[in-house]
Amino acid sequence: MAIKLSDADAGKFAAASRAIAFVEDGMRIGLGTGSTAAWMVRALAARVEREGLILTCVPTSTRTARQARELGLTVVTLDEAGWLDLTIDGADEFDPDLNLIKGGGGAHLQEKIVAAASDRMIVITDPSKAVAQLGAFPLPVEVIPFGLDATQRMIDEVLTGAAVGGRDCSIRMNGEERFFSDEGNHIIDLHLARIDDLCELSQALMRVPGVVETGLFLGMCNAVVIGHADGRTETRFADETPDEAGQVDLAEADDLPVEA
Ligand code: A5P
Repeated sequence: MAIKLSDADAGKFAAASRAIAFVEDGMRIGLGTGSTAAWMVRALAARVEREGLILTCVPTSTRTARQARELGLTVVTLDEAGWLDLTIDGADEFDPDLNLIKGGGGAHLQEKIVAAASDRMIVITDPSKAVAQLGAFPLPVEVIPFGLDATQRMIDEVLTGAAVGGRDCSIRMNGEERFFSDEGNHIIDLHLARIDDLCELSQALMRVPGVVETGLFLGMCNAVVIGHADGRTETRFADETPDEAGQVDLAEADDLPVEA
């Protein structure tokens, strides 16, 4: 019997399902992190099983690595893979130029390295992530634990001179404890409301000692696949390729493998 997906899950599944059609036999694939990427890993595992594709997969977090292994995908490190053909990942916001905020799940450091080491990055999302201007979603900044207070003060100073709509910062927590990324770092979330100059802010934050990486992905995304609750998909490309419309059969979600 068909399981009724929530509107959000239906959109995520539709986007994931459309995006894995870009995967070809023999490819080396970067696997993103987050709830949308988790749908993609399941859909990819189902396609590998069905079509006997030979893929080499590089996950962007311990969570995704565990899921991919449990579903039978071949998982290697980025160094073992060398270079990737395609990375498929989620996002927290994307703007009309396909610039992104990522890192809501705290995995943006590995996600950015993997995407940068890929010929193409495709982002999968539901329509709620589309914004006219980035910044409403808090911008995650990964910082090393040493000197955290000093690093935060320097980030505050950067924000004082930055073209943004808000300047509050919060250290990300995991219950009572500070959140740790897979790399053993902390995350400071910047509540900026809007970011008027993406490049300038990105460069200024990266100049702060102690900052490892920000969740701004500028000029890295080649296409965004937006999945809707009724199974419709829209794919927007960063180059001149015309937008593309599609339709996914949501009933196919019933047949996807589930990790333990
Ligand atoms: C993980 O750190 C993030 O970059 C995710 O890609 C992003 O938060 C999207 O997650 P969802 O697909 O769960 O919204």
